[in-house]
Amino acid sequence: MKFIDSEKAHDLSVNVLAKFGQNRGSQKILSSIYRTPSTPINVFGKLFRHPLGLAAGFDKSATALSAWPALGFSWVEYGGVTRYPQDGNPKPRMFRSDIDLALINRMGFNNPGALAVRDQCISRRVSGKWPQVPVAANIGRSKSVDNNRAPNDYAETFSLLYDHADLFVLNVSSPNTPGLRELQEDDHIRDVVSACIRVRESNYGVKPILLKFSPDLDDDVLLSCAGAALSAGIDGFIATNTTISRPVPSNTRSRNIFAESGGLSGRPLLSQSIQKIGLLYDSVGDKVPIIGCGGIEDAESAWSAITNGASLLQLYSAMVFQGPSVVPRTIKGIKKKLNENGFKDLEEAVGSSR
Ligand SMILES: Cc1cc2nc3c(=O)[nH]c(=O)nc-3n(C[C@H](O)[C@H](O)[C@H](O)COP(=O)(O)O)c2cc1C
Repeated sequence: MKFIDSEKAHDLSVNVLAKFGQNRGSQKILSSIYRTPSTPINVFGKLFRHPLGLAAGFDKSATALSAWPALGFSWVEYGGVTRYPQDGNPKPRMFRSDIDLALINRMGFNNPGALAVRDQCISRRVSGKWPQVPVAANIGRSKSVDNNRAPNDYAETFSLLYDHADLFVLNVSSPNTPGLRELQEDDHIRDVVSACIRVRESNYGVKPILLKFSPDLDDDVLLSCAGAALSAGIDGFIATNTTISRPVPSNTRSRNIFAESGGLSGRPLLSQSIQKIGLLYDSVGDKVPIIGCGGIEDAESAWSAITNGASLLQLYSAMVFQGPSVVPRTIKGIKKKLNENGFKDLEEAVGSSR
């Protein structure tokens, strides 16, 4: 896979899973290979078999939804979905640095649009292929819509997908849509969250709405934005999306890759995401749950996210570098750490190092 374009390699694996991973027989085979123990936790009033889910961006159009639980994930986030179909940025737009275990992407929300994703979800349900685990939908702003019209754009996608996810993530933190991250400003965020809450009320619903932050926000800006989102009724936070910062390159190849524009994910992101998880936990951890994402690749990094305040976890890059065995390996390691530290359950470990 290393020698073909990163995006082609990714598309190929999702396509294989979309075909192979959707019937019960192949799911049984996958589940027996990637058998993952349970470490249950109750979050948002839902029982998660263990905390680790698939992060947004991997299954953009929800085409392989029922394969992810068979690979061991306890929940899955599809998307980012925008109201209107988008091609995204010109290719190549996804790069990997193997030595740093990091990815850089500037995909730019390539997706078939909310209507097409909704149809995909409906046909999956009709054919009995909806996964048995919690499903989140990641919503982004359409490129053609400016920030003043963003509340309506998010709310329309939210409304179209309302029946097709258990939780929703408002992504205002991707670095690849011009101006998007400016939505992490108090007034903007209040308007975006309020618009979605109005849609939820009109559905007489209670499905949780979360906000996903950039790791590049200054702490005071992030906390102010979190406060504004909470006052508008947000139910939780994800820390974090990819970063536009770059680590010191390990060699010439990684120097060339780090020179690509876009968001960086994977191992070098861990320290930033952990810092933001802790920051959020200390200030709003008693009000809403925090989901840790960014550089999680093993039991050590997962444990660090949990003890700094994350109730649930997600990963993307570690799937690219290690394949699905990262899921059972990480959960087995978390179970061991729970025992070693004398915690009776995961809930007790959340935020325990703060
Ligand atoms: C190719 C690619 C596409 C992504 N697309 C999205 C997206 O559409 N929406 C989103 O919120 N995050 C997106 N992300 C960010 C991931 O969900 C995650 O926040 C980030 O990669 C950090 O986690 P990791 O270090 O485990 O990869 C994308 C990441 C990558 C690498």
